Amino acid sequence: MTNPDFASPQKIMDDSSDKSGIPESKSVEEKLQELLDKALYANGRRSAQKMRNLLNGTWLGEPLHVVLTDIPIGAWTVTILCDALDSNRNRGKFSLAADTSLAFGLFGAAGAAVTGIIDWSDVDPPARRLGFIHGLLNVGVTALFTASFILRKRKLLTGGRVSAALGYALLSLSAHLGGKLVYDHRVGVDRAAGEVFPQDFVSVLAESKLVDSMPIRASYEGVPILLVRRGQKIFAMANTCSHFSGPLSEGKLVGDSIVCPYHASRFALDDGHVLDGPAVHPQPCLEVRARDGQIEVRKPAAKG
Ligand code: FES
Repeated sequence: MTNPDFASPQKIMDDSSDKSGIPESKSVEEKLQELLDKALYANGRRSAQKMRNLLNGTWLGEPLHVVLTDIPIGAWTVTILCDALDSNRNRGKFSLAADTSLAFGLFGAAGAAVTGIIDWSDVDPPARRLGFIHGLLNVGVTALFTASFILRKRKLLTGGRVSAALGYALLSLSAHLGGKLVYDHRVGVDRAAGEVFPQDFVSVLAESKLVDSMPIRASYEGVPILLVRRGQKIFAMANTCSHFSGPLSEGKLVGDSIVCPYHASRFALDDGHVLDGPAVHPQPCLEVRARDGQIEVRKPAAKG
């Protein structure tokens, strides 16, 4: 989902024409993201933002989707184990546990699906297609476990168990793609973590270049730093957005907060906490001072 006030480089790339000058047609994923945008913002920007903050996990400090996916994976693992035990001894002793865990997994899958869709709506290429395939596989997984639940209710146990086993096989493939999204494409990973800032005060900008209420990018050994002057106060934080590496210095100042130009996450300038998602991780802040006509920054001392 792109902030309507800005356009990300990735989105600009998607809108570009090919070498013949003919505009490239939009991919299915891009069209789907646009439809999601329209649906999410249908009732106004503020209510959409509140819902996104809830579903992205901004309040939690971690992606909520990742937490909720544990429910169907764990519950359906129990289902498969109970089915295996029942089949082995042909007793049906574990059928209640199998049915209950299957139903609980469906309940968790609904939550994981909603949060996953909201997260995916902000994913740019190249991870966007992989996320789309991951979502399609999960639709298939949920359909197979739903069919299994219905078959069991109709006392068609063998069919129910086969359907669950197929669903579990597909779930494993989908979980593998989910892992690729996180570990290869760093979706949901804190992009500002691990950046190295000076332990002692170092000069990063001439004070004369820091104009009131004009965000500016400075750097320390190649690591970009956002500097903002607001009256008597000067703020400094990592310039790389924790969500998807958006350059915060190109964002918009809203009071004492900065809005990322890519997907409109909003961070408090004084301590970096997330005011609005989709970001869930806070921005690292730096200590800052003006000395001898220079702006100097350093990493805050570790607490405790
Ligand atoms: S990169 Fe997505 S909100 Fe900053």
